[in-house]
Amino acid sequence: MNSVPIGLGIALPKKCVKNADLPEDLDTSDEWIVQRTGIRQRYVAVEETTASLATEAARNALKDAGISPEEVDLIVLGTVTGDYTFPSTAAIVQRNLGISRGVAFDVNAVCSGFIFALDVADSYIKLNKAKCALVIGAETFSRIVDWSDRSTCVLFGDGAGALVLQARGNTDCGIKSCRVYSNGGYADSLITTGGVSTTKNAGFVKMSGQEVFKFAVEKFSESLNELLLDNRMSVDDIDLLVPHQANLRIIQKLIEVSGIDERKVLINIDKYANTSAASIPLALAEARDTFFSGGNTVLLSMGAGFTWGSALIKL
Ligand code: UT7
Repeated sequence: MNSVPIGLGIALPKKCVKNADLPEDLDTSDEWIVQRTGIRQRYVAVEETTASLATEAARNALKDAGISPEEVDLIVLGTVTGDYTFPSTAAIVQRNLGISRGVAFDVNAVCSGFIFALDVADSYIKLNKAKCALVIGAETFSRIVDWSDRSTCVLFGDGAGALVLQARGNTDCGIKSCRVYSNGGYADSLITTGGVSTTKNAGFVKMSGQEVFKFAVEKFSESLNELLLDNRMSVDDIDLLVPHQANLRIIQKLIEVSGIDERKVLINIDKYANTSAASIPLALAEARDTFFSGGNTVLLSMGAGFTWGSALIKL
């Protein structure tokens, strides 16, 4: 059985905050943010929540796939900014969509959340435990950044993206490989200052920026090389490369080191900033038609944990 993507949808908050709109007392500048990160603006939730964005993205993906909610028997949602401590945001989305069967749960892999969720859904389908899955990445990081800390708050944005996967036999198309990794030895390098069982609140994002940067550059290259080797491919066989959008300079390093044609690499960090688990589906949606028109698409991620991973989708 193969897991074949058949629909894609996204959702964004209404409010867009350009670099120039950031609070004046933040002591930052459009020039610094653009030069160091490539970010020009981000979307910030006001009335929206992670579940409302995820639901809208899921509805758009189902419409794109021409599938009704009743057909969905699995929802896997990557997020670390859920609406509630419990139940899972996936359960809220399931209710919002009017689905009362199958299984819905969240995965916590921070910026790698979408690829971890994809890996779980792909495994369910390959094990014949699901026939139609919604894989969602949704976040409202604006709610867990310290808006007085210029070194983190300018980097993140809110949004959601969803992909519908369908189980299909007798096809060579679908998710060809998915590999995910973690190394908790780096847990303190990108962490929140609190949590339910420690401070009884969510805390704020705290990051050792340069350490995360170096690790992301290393793991992007390593994951890509491993994927190419596993699938007996060269970079020239890739039609679309969708890396997690954390910093334009990290993506530029990947292009330089891998030698891939930069026109095949999706970059939209300028529009959305780092949306954590939502970043990959939001970027994939920019090239929706290319993605569904066939070819080899590669996804790459790296996030807190540290977590990282890759996926190859052939359509
Ligand atoms: O999605 C999960 C993965 N996350 C990432 O991959 C993020 C990885 N890290 C990065 O993208 C970069 O390390 C940052 C964008 C976070 C920082 O860029 P950097 O080039 O590593 O800057 P830095 O931390 O070395 O800071 C350089 C200077 C410092 O000032 P001094 O000490 O040189 O006087 C910072 O205080 O830039 C200052 N700075 C700022 N200045 C203006 C830090 N943030 C800002 C800001 N505006 N927003």
